[in-house]
Amino acid sequence: MKCIDEVPAGELYGKRVIVRADFNVPLDNSGKASDIFRLRKGWATIEFLAKAGAKVIVLSHIGRDPEESLAPVAEALKQLGKVVYVPDLLGVMAQTAVRAMTGGEVLLLENLRRDPRETENGEDFAKELAAYGELYVDDAFAAAHRAHASIVGIPKFLPHYYGLLMRDEVRALSAARTPQAPSFAILGGAKFETKAPLVRSLLATYDHFFITGALANDVYKAKGFPVGISVVSKELPSAEVLADPKFLAPIDVTVEQSDKQARVKKPEAVSGDEKIVDIGPDTVALIAPYIEQANFILWNGPTGLYEDGYTHYTQAIAELIEHAVARGAKAVIGGGDTIASIEESGIDESKLGFLSTGGGAMLEFLLQGTLPGLDALN
Ligand code: 3PG
Repeated sequence: MKCIDEVPAGELYGKRVIVRADFNVPLDNSGKASDIFRLRKGWATIEFLAKAGAKVIVLSHIGRDPEESLAPVAEALKQLGKVVYVPDLLGVMAQTAVRAMTGGEVLLLENLRRDPRETENGEDFAKELAAYGELYVDDAFAAAHRAHASIVGIPKFLPHYYGLLMRDEVRALSAARTPQAPSFAILGGAKFETKAPLVRSLLATYDHFFITGALANDVYKAKGFPVGISVVSKELPSAEVLADPKFLAPIDVTVEQSDKQARVKKPEAVSGDEKIVDIGPDTVALIAPYIEQANFILWNGPTGLYEDGYTHYTQAIAELIEHAVARGAKAVIGGGDTIASIEESGIDESKLGFLSTGGGAMLEFLLQGTLPGLDALN
């Protein structure tokens, strides 16, 4: 599959190019985009096309509620360059705006999920969207695990290409499926039942595997330790996984007590009214040598509850990875909360290897080696 930068610039001049981006970003209480990582990463393709003189029509979804609008995204994109935002998708307003475009302009249309046919993968919807463009560029890696109309439908009707971000994501995550030894994988998050196949796959491909976040609570529970009022999954890790010599779990935890005070203790000492919210310093010391010696590090999911401010140990791991990358190790890091914690730490992102925009898409690609959105392009 070709990437859009393989098309001679002369062939893009004046062309109407649809870019499917993933600008599904979190909003703060005032409705503003609170994290523009995905916008920054997605801007390169838009800028490339605009500079080549194309008429760039950007499509994205945001949120799960169809009423959500891309207006806050349009506002945040102003930090990156000039974008005309039209709060319409297929109506007269959008049609007129597309027709009026001149080369080098960027137009952002409204949330694709305003139309139920997007998530239903309606073929007529894909066809109507495709009519806006002459070429289709898929740069929405983070949404490529969704078989939605704008992702798998539009490429049926137009010549299609990878965007620059899509190409970089696929390259970096393909490398993460065959890591150079010694390799170290870190997986956090919740819902063990959805992650069990990936845990098995990472145990098979990586030299060592560290489980963290709420997934680690499942390990304590499976071992018969009390977990208080911590988040636990419906399914717990099997005895085989727990006994795997490559498998590492935290050896100390940070708990929050009813007075909201945080204390560090051994997992076996958690009491009934406590909630595990992060790992502890001994765990960082346990995994530090693995990171220090690794040639390849894969990481998805913070160690602690990001939304409650438990980012300290996640940031400590990011610092260890920064040193590993400085001595030549490769790292691939992803997941919204992981990236947000890193961004808050002030560590220079460019010193951490490859930061993926994917959450669910990253995990699914690691497991399958492809995604519906990629299959539609290939
Ligand atoms: C994501 O953030 O994982 C993607 O934008 C997909 O969003 P969705 O989970 O709402 O389909």
